[in-house]
Amino acid sequence: MTTTLVTGGTVVSSTGRGRADVLIDGERIVAVLEQGSVLLGSDLKAGVDRVIDATGKYVIPGGIDAHTHMELPFGGTAASDTFETGTRAAAWGGTTTIIDFAVQSHGQRVMDGLAAWHEKAAGNCAIDYGFHQIIGDVDADSLQAMDGLVDEGVTSFKLFMAYPGVFYSDDAQILRAMQKSHDTGLLTMMHAENGPAIDVLVEQLIAQGKTDPYYHGVARAWQMEEEATHRAIMLANLTGAPLYVVHVSAKQAVEQLAAARDDGQNVFGETCPQYLYLSLEDNLGASSAEWGNFEGAKWVCSTPLRSRHEHHRDELWKALRTNDLQMVSTDHCPFCMKGQKDLGLGDFSKIPNGIGSVEHRIDLLYQGVVDGRISLERWVEITSATPARMFGLYGRKGVIAPGADADVVIYDPDGHTSIGYGKSHHMSMDHSAWEGYEIDGHVDTVLSRGKVVIDDDAYLGVAGDGRFVKRELSQYLI
Ligand code: URP
Ligand code: ZN
Ligand code: ZN
Ligand code: ZN
Repeated sequence: MTTTLVTGGTVVSSTGRGRADVLIDGERIVAVLEQGSVLLGSDLKAGVDRVIDATGKYVIPGGIDAHTHMELPFGGTAASDTFETGTRAAAWGGTTTIIDFAVQSHGQRVMDGLAAWHEKAAGNCAIDYGFHQIIGDVDADSLQAMDGLVDEGVTSFKLFMAYPGVFYSDDAQILRAMQKSHDTGLLTMMHAENGPAIDVLVEQLIAQGKTDPYYHGVARAWQMEEEATHRAIMLANLTGAPLYVVHVSAKQAVEQLAAARDDGQNVFGETCPQYLYLSLEDNLGASSAEWGNFEGAKWVCSTPLRSRHEHHRDELWKALRTNDLQMVSTDHCPFCMKGQKDLGLGDFSKIPNGIGSVEHRIDLLYQGVVDGRISLERWVEITSATPARMFGLYGRKGVIAPGADADVVIYDPDGHTSIGYGKSHHMSMDHSAWEGYEIDGHVDTVLSRGKVVIDDDAYLGVAGDGRFVKRELSQYLI
């Protein structure tokens, strides 16, 4: 087994920071030694196999991206990152664990859907991975099967109030699944948008010839998100189910979550980098020489990017600071423009929904530290510690402490990262949704369970080294 000493850096956790050296033995952290400790010095350095100098850098727990969709069949195609390419890109960006969504599609048995996801991921991942379970067909069989999920280490499931005819659940199905959530402790994750009402608006817009990607954002109005978020909260309140609302983009949805939390309800929310930085006007409404107004298809995702004039982005940042929102995941669901997004040329409703960001979450959120929107500790909390606690991984993941997996990122605050296709881009896409973003900061070194996977701009990971992690029940409930 290899022993490693990460020396000279500032170790940052969700609760504080301090100069400390991190001793790793094999896959685990065995000691975090304050600098100046008697154990330190040439003896210890001489005794380890490898010394990594982190002087002037932050030493943080590896990122946990709790919302990804590798290889998801969706919108008549499939997300363009495989588990192999997607986890490799994640590693480049300092993420050492993903939680992907296994799918039970309509008419399929839940455990068959889960088995199919294991099949896709096993032997292909560069970093560790867990699963949530999408329940796309809530019926008596599915409800019974959900009893077995905790033993599988899959302790959360996602329902959709959107996408009628695909993953959609009606209120009766949601109520039953939430009763199951209450009984089992499984965390209910909710895509909160009023799908049937959105479909009416989509049909009307298309009939009026409003077919550009911009109208995706018009059809999926914030009222649709606020209403569904409120409904989900009320059904959770009634049933006692713990609720986690995914990809929150509207400030009105945040208000709903904040009010429920103030009432003491077990209600949580995540947002995603795209909602913190991008907008309806600048992105969905973009045009280019190559694609004309169809350029905006690069940013078609649901919930949609919101209007810059309504100040959703400032409210989302504020909610991250005040813990009205608990964490940031990417909802990584990439599609190429050619052969995938272009299925929706002439009809925005046929554009596969999703943006690829798994590689950039840590960097993009670090800009919140640079800009003074969040503290260094909060950066670690919303990208690693809280995802770990929310989804039953804390202790093993999400912290630099003795006994934890040695998932460690050395981040250089004086470094620089230029994001864009052909630059720092390892996701399997033909464009970047983050083209031109210049990042103050740089992911220098990444260790995944003690093994260096990124070393100073070299990829050293191996597909298959990443393991499935069985998760405990959420450690975050009030
Ligand atoms: O646009 C999105 N979000 N695509 C992925 C599927 C989902 O709803 O999370
Ligand atoms: Zn969703
Ligand atoms: Zn998603
Ligand atoms: Zn580099």
